[in-house]
Amino acid sequence: MALLPILEYPDPRLKKVAAPVAAVTPEIRKLVRDMAETMYAAPGVGLAATQVDVHKRVIVIDVSEHKDELRVFINPEILEAEGEAECEEGCLSVPGYYDKVTRAARVRVRAQNENGETCDVDAEGLLAVCIQHEMDHLLGKVFVEYLSPLKRARLAAKLRKKQRLAG
Ligand code: NI
Repeated sequence: MALLPILEYPDPRLKKVAAPVAAVTPEIRKLVRDMAETMYAAPGVGLAATQVDVHKRVIVIDVSEHKDELRVFINPEILEAEGEAECEEGCLSVPGYYDKVTRAARVRVRAQNENGETCDVDAEGLLAVCIQHEMDHLLGKVFVEYLSPLKRARLAAKLRKKQRLAG
């Protein structure tokens, strides 16, 4: 297994749209293991392949208290979404920044797992938020794009300052 470098917003590679996975090969299973290790080490509750510069429709999530319930979503599709919930979100690609985003409260998702089996999952709460957040990454979208123009301008100023300090 290997820890993968995580792209940071506003890296343009975070805007790439991920391609469907044609078959769950050993290479995809290795990607899943490396992504899980990277997510747990960060630590985070979810990671999309886009964030590690692999543009394939693969997501790993673990919202359990003891970090022992890894969920793998390959080629995820939302079959149903209902309700609305506001939740404070963060992202491994936007370190140190958290803000509220409104999403569907409940979703039914169809995806393949690391064994290539297709499963439907009914999700609510943090899991539902996380699935929607990670699926956005696969479409090239980062959660801060939901923020108001004023908040985005403030974030951009903060990131520029951070870059100057780092550079
Ligand atoms: Ni994220």
